Amino acid sequence: MGKPTFIKPGNLFLFSIICISCIGVLEAYTREDEEYWTTRAMQAETMNANAYDPNPSASTNRLNKAVNKMFSNTTGRNLRQRHNGPCLATNPIDRCWRCRKDWANDRKRLARCVKGFAHATTGGLKGKFYVVTDASDHDVQNPKYGTLRWGAIQPKPLWIVFARDMIITLSQELMISSDKTIDARGAQVHIAHGAQLTVQFAHNVIIHNLHIHDIKPSGGGMIRDSTNHCGFRTQSDGDGISIFGSSNVWIDHVSMSNCADGLIDVVQGSTAITISNSHFTRHNDVMLFGASDSYSNDQIMQVTVAFNHFGRGLVQRMPRCRWGFFHVVNNDYTHWLMYAVGGSKNPTIISQGNRYIAPPNLSAKEVTKREYCEEGVWKNWVWQSQGDLMQNGAFFIQSGGRNTRRFSKTDLIKSKPGTFVTRLTRFSGSLNCDIGKKC
Ligand SMILES: *[C@@H]1O[C@H](CO)[C@@H](O)[C@H](O)[C@H]1NC(C)=O
Ligand SMILES: *[C@@H]1O[C@H](CO)[C@@H](O)[C@H](O)[C@H]1NC(C)=O
Repeated sequence: MGKPTFIKPGNLFLFSIICISCIGVLEAYTREDEEYWTTRAMQAETMNANAYDPNPSASTNRLNKAVNKMFSNTTGRNLRQRHNGPCLATNPIDRCWRCRKDWANDRKRLARCVKGFAHATTGGLKGKFYVVTDASDHDVQNPKYGTLRWGAIQPKPLWIVFARDMIITLSQELMISSDKTIDARGAQVHIAHGAQLTVQFAHNVIIHNLHIHDIKPSGGGMIRDSTNHCGFRTQSDGDGISIFGSSNVWIDHVSMSNCADGLIDVVQGSTAITISNSHFTRHNDVMLFGASDSYSNDQIMQVTVAFNHFGRGLVQRMPRCRWGFFHVVNNDYTHWLMYAVGGSKNPTIISQGNRYIAPPNLSAKEVTKREYCEEGVWKNWVWQSQGDLMQNGAFFIQSGGRNTRRFSKTDLIKSKPGTFVTRLTRFSGSLNCDIGKKC
């Protein structure tokens, strides 16, 4: 769920007990914060509108074409590299960089590899490199040089890498500003046991190769979100990653589990998002795309979910969608307890070439779930399944074939079928790449 940006009266009251003399200062901060975030919201709204693709099926088709092309050469010849033995990359995003021994000298190549709705995302491409050398997060108002937080709040583009393996326990939510890449390739980096990652009213962010788990709500307070702004924030929810009013965000090769709220929330008119090659386990509410049945600005939302593995210990919402357009393609759903893909408020869901393995529970074989709605209404929602592989009794209830408002079946290029999914998702989650070797 999205969180209020501004101080709540309850918090103000508590705060006043702790520090009566601070009240004046705090009120001034709050007014200033309000102006600051209103400006940020307005700027983001323009960016988000520009990132919106008026022809979403062109985007879904480009992705499917790229996968088809990879397999188009006979005998898998195209899956091998000519020199230096086999290339293990099994989908077009990975093939773009993983087969190169020099990937670590050419990290920014990654910015060319994204597919799906976030295809224009370049993250910190235009910026310098910044190396995280310090796993601590003691000062969220004036973060120390060398910490992840220092890099995340810089106003300029930045490509953030890590000097070594580390566990970062965030003491407050990490506010990631525009034009950043967080690239943990070559190290095992865990963001764990503390606060979440937040991309709020920002654009052009890549989050790559992290482990994110056991994230908790954190208390809030004064947090710096940019070199020129430090403001009051209420308690964060304990999502893994919260994308709030933002666009062009690409999450790739991330392993996520066991967070207090959602693993990934995409809310408040966010769009041009791709979540790919990731591995999700041990969690109830996995992904929420759109937090409110009354927030119709979420119609702008366009999200690609591709080549992910939804694994052990997951319960529901993979994803749970509202309003927007969602391409769920070539994912491996090996575990769920309640349902896999669901939503409300007329979301368009194009499910292509996934593998859905239903759980043993006879009441949970249905992949789909429509919330708060009667069939007379949802029969018009465009929820299409094409080339999905159904196993163990799984079934997808389609609807809305005739609704061509945002989608027409004849526009669609077929994906690689669900039978290819184990191959396409074989390396999902955070990778263990050695510098100087193919990854
Ligand atoms: C097929 O493989 C050859 C040799 O690896 C390559 O040059 C060619 O581009 C591939 N074709 C397609 C359609 O990918
Ligand atoms: C079986 O699935 C139904 C529907 O999601 C759920 O309500 C019920 O708790 C599940 N039973 C078990 C034993 O998990």
